[in-house]
Amino acid sequence: MSKIIAIYPGTFDPITKGHVDIIERSSRLFDKIIIAVGENSKKKTIFTKEARVELAKKILVNYANVEISFFSGLLVDFAQKNNATVIIRGLRAVSDFEYEFQMADVNRHLNSNIETIFLTPTEQYSYISSSMVREIAELGGDILPFVHEEVAIALKKLYR
Ligand code: COA
Repeated sequence: MSKIIAIYPGTFDPITKGHVDIIERSSRLFDKIIIAVGENSKKKTIFTKEARVELAKKILVNYANVEISFFSGLLVDFAQKNNATVIIRGLRAVSDFEYEFQMADVNRHLNSNIETIFLTPTEQYSYISSSMVREIAELGGDILPFVHEEVAIALKKLYR
């Protein structure tokens, strides 16, 4: 039987425990997961692409079927180049729905061989976002409930 490769794309600025929760679930469902660290043209990131990839690599080192790559250009092209047939997206709340629905539609229009699948994170992480974590870090709050220690250290350095 052929192996199913799935892509989990995002800006990951930075990667949070909510993202890792989705990755953990996905790693049990698919043969291989590629974490595709990308750029959203509407977002200005605080971490460089190299730093975002490095942090994800450190945190996900124990997941044997998870790979981390940077990508630019169209997501569906990156997926096809890597023989991925599934795009994974997390749905945290109803507010995510419209944007995610639109993105899934656009990606299906661009390449109908690639399916988008939505996973919901555990309730504990359903309200986390990277921008919220950045704001708490900038204001000196405790971010350890939301991110791994490596990320907390990197954020502290940045906002020192
Ligand atoms: N845990 C924590 N946060 C989560 C989450 C989870 N489980 N699921 C979603 N989020 C948050 C992210 O932290 C992020 O928060 P922020 O906005 O505060 O930074 C937000 O939800 C969604 O961002 P992200 O998942 O990073 O995706 P994005 O909307 O920035 O899209 C790409 C990034 C790279 C996937 C998208 O822009 C893309 O595909 N670009 C390539 C160009 C392309 O193909 N375009 C056509 C398709 S639209």
